[in-house]
Amino acid sequence: MIRIAIIVGSTRPGRRAEVVAHWVYDIASKRSDAEFEVVDILDFNLPLLDERMSPARGQYTQPHTKAWSAKIDSFDAFVFVTPEYNHGPSGALKNAIDFLYREWNNKAAAFVSYGGGGASGTRAVEQLRLVMGELQIADVRAQVALSLATDFQDATFKPAARHDALVGTMLDQLISWAGALQTVRSGEGARPVHEPAHNEPLKRSAREQWHDRAIY
Ligand SMILES: Cc1cc2nc3c(=O)[nH]c(=O)nc-3n(C[C@H](O)[C@H](O)[C@H](O)COP(=O)(O)O)c2cc1C
Repeated sequence: MIRIAIIVGSTRPGRRAEVVAHWVYDIASKRSDAEFEVVDILDFNLPLLDERMSPARGQYTQPHTKAWSAKIDSFDAFVFVTPEYNHGPSGALKNAIDFLYREWNNKAAAFVSYGGGGASGTRAVEQLRLVMGELQIADVRAQVALSLATDFQDATFKPAARHDALVGTMLDQLISWAGALQTVRSGEGARPVHEPAHNEPLKRSAREQWHDRAIY
């Protein structure tokens, strides 16, 4: 069974992220083609990234990193529930993403955003889509964008009815890609990854070789 994490993308006291994530979960959990779990980054007490080695190496030393790694590793796909902070995602969400690497690779992602100013958090999602590429996460097209002006009444979340159907479309796409990517992770659909010969420089300086090794 495909397992999908609905990630609460804000740790702010009084955050709206929590109620939005549980709304997504309530709709998603009626389906029988995947399992869903709300994953709250607040529960992992992640400080600002405090691992010495690059996450791409997976050599974690901190208990909070190991717990976060084990949790994310257990999923096939993710719904990032993200606010918009200064036209980007929250620092807390980006930091939580940056802690790991392999655990995200060859999996699928979708986005539910919220914000004001008529953009409904979509600018944060555009930034996250760029991040997904580096993490080898396949992000689906369908997304849900909630407006602070019309889907919330002060502190109360009252999403317009049309959003329910959009959550369904988004999950259809996410589950489809999550299933396809399982074959890549199992090796069935994978191809050997190597640098094409025409990209190989004839001669690399010692400094360039050092840089190649050091960057990750
Ligand atoms: C630091 C900060 C920056 C914000 N910047 C934006 C913004 O650029 N665009 C926007 O639509 N809303 C912005 N907002 C409003 C948030 O989207 C809104 O407060 C939302 O509820 C925050 O998510 P949270 O409650 O889950 O933490 C900002 C809020 C904060 C706290």
